[in-house]
Amino acid sequence: MSWNVFLFSFSLFLAATMVRGSPDEPARKSYIVYMGDVPEASINAADEHQSLLVNAIGDAHVARSSIIHSYRKSFNGFAARLLPHEVHRLMEDERVISVFPNKRRQLHTTKSWDFLGMPLSLQNKNLKMQNDIIIGILDTGIYARAPSFNDHGYGPAPAKWKGTCAKGFNFSGCNNKVIGAKYFNLDDMAHDMELSPADDDGHGTHTSSIAAGVPVHNASFYGIAEGTARGGVPSARIAMYKVCWGAGCNDIDLLAGFDEAIADGVDLISVSIGGPSKNYFNDPIAIGSFHAMRAGILTTCSAGNGGPDTFTVQNVAPWVLTVGASSIDRQFKAAVRLGNGDRSVGVAINSFSSGKRMFPLTSGILAANSSNAQYGNASACDYGTLSAAKVKGKVVYCLDNVGQDRTIKELGGIGIITSSDFTTDMAMTTVIPGTTVSSTDGMKIDQYISSTNGPQASISRTRSFNATAPSVASFSARGPQLISRNILKPDISAPGLGILAAYSKIPSVTGDPTDPRHSTFNILSGTSMACPHAAAAAAYVKSLHPDWSPAAIRSALMTTATPMKSRDKFEELSSGSGQINPTKAADPGLVYDIGMKNYIRHLCTEGYNDTMIGLLMGGKTKFNCSTLTPAHGVDCINYPSMHMQLKNTDKVYGVFFRTVTNVGSSKSVYEATVTPPEGISVKVIPSTLTFDQPRQKRSFKVLVEGVNKHSRTQILPGSIVWSDSVHVVRSPMLIYIGRYSLGPGLS
Ligand SMILES: *[C@@H]1O[C@H](CO)[C@@H](O)[C@H](O)[C@H]1NC(C)=O
Ligand SMILES: *[C@@H]1O[C@H](CO)[C@@H](O)[C@H](O)[C@H]1NC(C)=O
Ligand SMILES: *[C@@H]1O[C@H](CO)[C@@H](O)[C@H](O)[C@H]1NC(C)=O
Ligand SMILES: *[C@@H]1O[C@H](CO)[C@@H](O)[C@H](O)[C@H]1NC(C)=O
Ligand SMILES: *[C@@H]1O[C@H](CO)[C@@H](O)[C@H](O)[C@H]1NC(C)=O
Ligand SMILES: *[C@@H]1O[C@H](CO)[C@@H](O)[C@H](O)[C@H]1NC(C)=O
Ligand SMILES: *[C@@H]1O[C@H](CO)[C@@H](O)[C@H](O)[C@H]1NC(C)=O
Repeated sequence: MSWNVFLFSFSLFLAATMVRGSPDEPARKSYIVYMGDVPEASINAADEHQSLLVNAIGDAHVARSSIIHSYRKSFNGFAARLLPHEVHRLMEDERVISVFPNKRRQLHTTKSWDFLGMPLSLQNKNLKMQNDIIIGILDTGIYARAPSFNDHGYGPAPAKWKGTCAKGFNFSGCNNKVIGAKYFNLDDMAHDMELSPADDDGHGTHTSSIAAGVPVHNASFYGIAEGTARGGVPSARIAMYKVCWGAGCNDIDLLAGFDEAIADGVDLISVSIGGPSKNYFNDPIAIGSFHAMRAGILTTCSAGNGGPDTFTVQNVAPWVLTVGASSIDRQFKAAVRLGNGDRSVGVAINSFSSGKRMFPLTSGILAANSSNAQYGNASACDYGTLSAAKVKGKVVYCLDNVGQDRTIKELGGIGIITSSDFTTDMAMTTVIPGTTVSSTDGMKIDQYISSTNGPQASISRTRSFNATAPSVASFSARGPQLISRNILKPDISAPGLGILAAYSKIPSVTGDPTDPRHSTFNILSGTSMACPHAAAAAAYVKSLHPDWSPAAIRSALMTTATPMKSRDKFEELSSGSGQINPTKAADPGLVYDIGMKNYIRHLCTEGYNDTMIGLLMGGKTKFNCSTLTPAHGVDCINYPSMHMQLKNTDKVYGVFFRTVTNVGSSKSVYEATVTPPEGISVKVIPSTLTFDQPRQKRSFKVLVEGVNKHSRTQILPGSIVWSDSVHVVRSPMLIYIGRYSLGPGLS
């Protein structure tokens, strides 16, 4: 149901959930009160939350009825319905880091694994370890009966597993593959829905199987994309945390998902959900993933579908792996044949076969109901603008629009041709025969319609074509980011275009209730699909190196990635280090590790104060940023990429301080190779690093200097590569000079 991709690409920004009060009283709204690390054992978190609320509200009874949920397993905080002055009082309390309104976030698929050079045979290398890896997925639930989750041959859940399996509507339980399933509906997001971990959308089933689905032979979407479908680490286990319901994903539920997943003992967390965020501690995904990181768990997140515009990347916290979407070497196309013999090829997932039969053809503008122009643009077939009488039984051509297939079907139309230059890389599943052609081909079709008596067309069934790949998907969100401005995000890209993976049989394949097609496989696109690919690659690296930190695993994936060619040339803005290469990531040679102290130092320099950081870290001693070793350099963090965002300036100057840890052979000598950004001088000091034992650390600095002669925005890519003739450890460098809107960051 690629319809979803479009829905998710709009950054829906919904107001906090309203709760009706009496007529003369302002409405209470749902908020999250975040308090940092789990309280000491001697403190009962629920009591602490209650007493805080009584202080703020001044009435024990109201305080009791306004609390929604206490978080206390993996971090400290609670959700409650509050009035504005109560929010202020809570913010003033020294035990509180942040108070933020509960917002709704949106959900942002197997051939892709062969394309990434990770054949199934490789999976047997460390089966025992992989068997013990548990991937926690925060999503729309799971259809555990899909063939991709068949647990034949799997032993019981690993001993470390502490999670449970909820029962409920349309959900018959877990197995040895899907070992856990929980759902969260704390602020009644799912008013009229039946509660259960069942996937009534399909998205969560899709992402789960991309990460860890078992191989299913002869899988396809009604014959399209036929082959073996499988996840990246087919022997790993899946734990589903359902935090999304029909209308989206509530912050309160997302945080509860993290709270539980960390305590349940998952090894990795994959989150294909996003939304606008201000700073890290007003963002449930940043908060949850911070505590996951402290517990040794890497969180992978989708970068969002707001591309190709810049400044659209989401989920940018420095402790998550932020993943953009790229193409694989297969494209889905469906041709249009016109009555005059002309033929154009569009992108589409059209499972309908109408043979060579021709149908009457019209266009949105010709089928318009002129009395309904106020409802939108008839050329684009906007909802409400067309006349059913003129559409019935016809194929309709719609200008520069996608997703109007339901509209045309509702009016009795039997096919849709759309034109778009934006979606030429993304095939959508339509409820009636459909395809999307380029604007140039669209113009020819339009001309044919207006110059012919009785125009006709036929739309062919989708066929797969080989394509050159990878390139970044048009919709994949782009940097730079506005929060930690000198950290490059997205970090990496992974396949997210036209991915065949498991699906839920509860909804139809398009989500349209009139669509009779229900399938355990579907083809979807989105950074949502890219994220679990990266989670599986991380799981693979973790299974080989169980003692590596989340940052070390991320570094291995980033420094071994294949640099991308994106359509807009500025590949680093859309794919960071490039496309994941899991097999290379298993042996990166060097890693850029980041410990807790380094993250904290980064937060200190980003303006988060002592009180906040003290609460984050927990413990009795008061925290003091200025007692840390002074922070140096552009970014104050040992990140595997190097990024500078400068306001329009004529002087470019900065130093990056980095430390690499030897995880390759004990004795090795690495030499630096610099590809400087155009017009900029880059010096690496020293330019040779010698290691004589494993785990040895070596530091270096990177001096960046230059003069900017332009007044318009400059995007200047370069790279630094360390190599010992066996390993290639690459860091992209990107200097962005431009006018940025001072976003909602801290400073
Ligand atoms: C795959 O499925 C098709 C029909 O869907 C069937 O004809 C074919 O024999 C199957 N192939 C295998 C290897 O099972
Ligand atoms: C309708 O949409 C098309 C395609 O975007 C555009 O070219 C045209 O100007 C629009 N017409 C009106 C009346 O807005
Ligand atoms: C046009 O729309 C109006 C309602 O706005 C409806 O009454 C009328 O029947 C429609 N005409 C046609 C030809 O569909
Ligand atoms: C597509 O690629 C596959 C595998 O690389 C190859 O076997 C096949 O012949 C190619 N098909 C076409 C039409 O080029
Ligand atoms: C879900 O439950 C409904 C009502 O019991 C049932 O009609 C439907 O077939 C179930 N769907 C699936 C996929 O099991
Ligand atoms: C720390 O920041 C918080 C939130 O911005 C603020 O309320 C608090 O007063 C600050 N504390 C100090 C010691 O500056
Ligand atoms: C933090 O440490 C610095 C240097 O040790 C000291 O001067 C300062 O007073 C301390 N601040 C607080 C709030 O303790």
